[in-house]
Amino acid sequence: MNYNNTEEFALGLDADDELNIYRKEFHIPLQKNGEEHIYLCGNSLGLQPKRTKEFLDQELKDWATFGVEGHFNAKNPWMPYHEFLTKSYAKIVGALSSEVVAMNTLTVNLHLMMVSFYRPTKKRYKIIIEGDAFPSDIYAVESQLKYHGLSPDTALIKLRARKGETAIRIEDIAEIIENQGDEIALIMLGGVNYYTGQVFDFKTITKLGHKKGLIVGFDLAHAAGNIKLDLHNWGVDFAVWCSYKYLNSGPGSVAAAFVHEKHHKSELNRFAGWWGHNKEDRFKMPDEFNPINTAEGWQLSNPPILSLCAIRASLSIFDEVGIDTLVSKSKILTDYMLFLLNNIESDRIEIITPDKKGCQISIRVKNGNKRLFDKITEKGVIADWREPDVIRIAPVPLYNSFEDVFKFCKILKEEL
Ligand SMILES: Cc1ncc(COP(=O)(O)O)c(C=O)c1O
Repeated sequence: MNYNNTEEFALGLDADDELNIYRKEFHIPLQKNGEEHIYLCGNSLGLQPKRTKEFLDQELKDWATFGVEGHFNAKNPWMPYHEFLTKSYAKIVGALSSEVVAMNTLTVNLHLMMVSFYRPTKKRYKIIIEGDAFPSDIYAVESQLKYHGLSPDTALIKLRARKGETAIRIEDIAEIIENQGDEIALIMLGGVNYYTGQVFDFKTITKLGHKKGLIVGFDLAHAAGNIKLDLHNWGVDFAVWCSYKYLNSGPGSVAAAFVHEKHHKSELNRFAGWWGHNKEDRFKMPDEFNPINTAEGWQLSNPPILSLCAIRASLSIFDEVGIDTLVSKSKILTDYMLFLLNNIESDRIEIITPDKKGCQISIRVKNGNKRLFDKITEKGVIADWREPDVIRIAPVPLYNSFEDVFKFCKILKEEL
């Protein structure tokens, strides 16, 4: 598409956008002067869908009306409540319904998956991760290594971009797998890197890993609801994601996990809890754990219904829109942002997000000068700053407009 650097052009794109009706479905935070913020932070915390309140009100009403009987008598019974999310999640990550489950929080799920899928032996014990992975992922992986009596210094392979580059090359990943594959037990990458916005080549990495007999898992915190995923067909072994970023379920809301069906019946180690026990006799209170033969078998506790309810509200929007439509708009919106950013002539900023991206763009600020970020914040932009030197912005196709993108770039240009 030929883009143009005028407000009229941006407004024209909004007028033609079939998803523009969804902006009104969200609460856009207001500035002190009553104007809407330019909210470009859905990669950190998604906005609140207006319908969430209605969904929550129903559960509060049913709790008031039925007390414990709400587990069976609520309009949406709480006993199987997590199952109401399954189909929507399966569509979002490209999975079978039996392969996904909403449970716990993200880092907890990462640990649970590693309990099952990181089984180091004397010969095969190394883990591959991005060098600039989100710190919680690094802490989780390092603590798993230590738990097994291994040292991160020798057992953790951190992928890095080449000198002078910002994205990790697939050929470099391939080389490491080829050369050290016999010693590697697990590849655990962020599907979309939280810092640079780089999207990894899931299919190729999974194939390369499997060829050498390794397990391949992904943290989809920045991928779920952002990019098109096809976990089942790619053969990914496991994945975990949170729901509060692109999935708009509210701060700290319940996360989810994917376990490929090929592992459902295998004798994997796992940490168990009663909610993962066979549904038929869970309430007969047997002593012996008998796991559900799907991803649900990894559940520990009965889940927080109010949080699942907020996820359900948000996923109902994804069901209406469909991930393909969303991703099509996302591409145009993000490319428009890039077009405008590239039109800003300044050597004080550098875009570090590679072509393989979702909707996040990371702008490196020369000398890590946070003043630029503070100034755009004062002008009504909500984005985020990640140490040491990056402003992350994410035009989210569900609620961001082309006008938001235009206004943001105008403010950035003025402040530069
Ligand atoms: C890539 C990634 N991994 C892990 C986390 C930690 O998530 P949680 O606090 O929900 O465990 C985050 C949070 O933003 C993240 O972005």
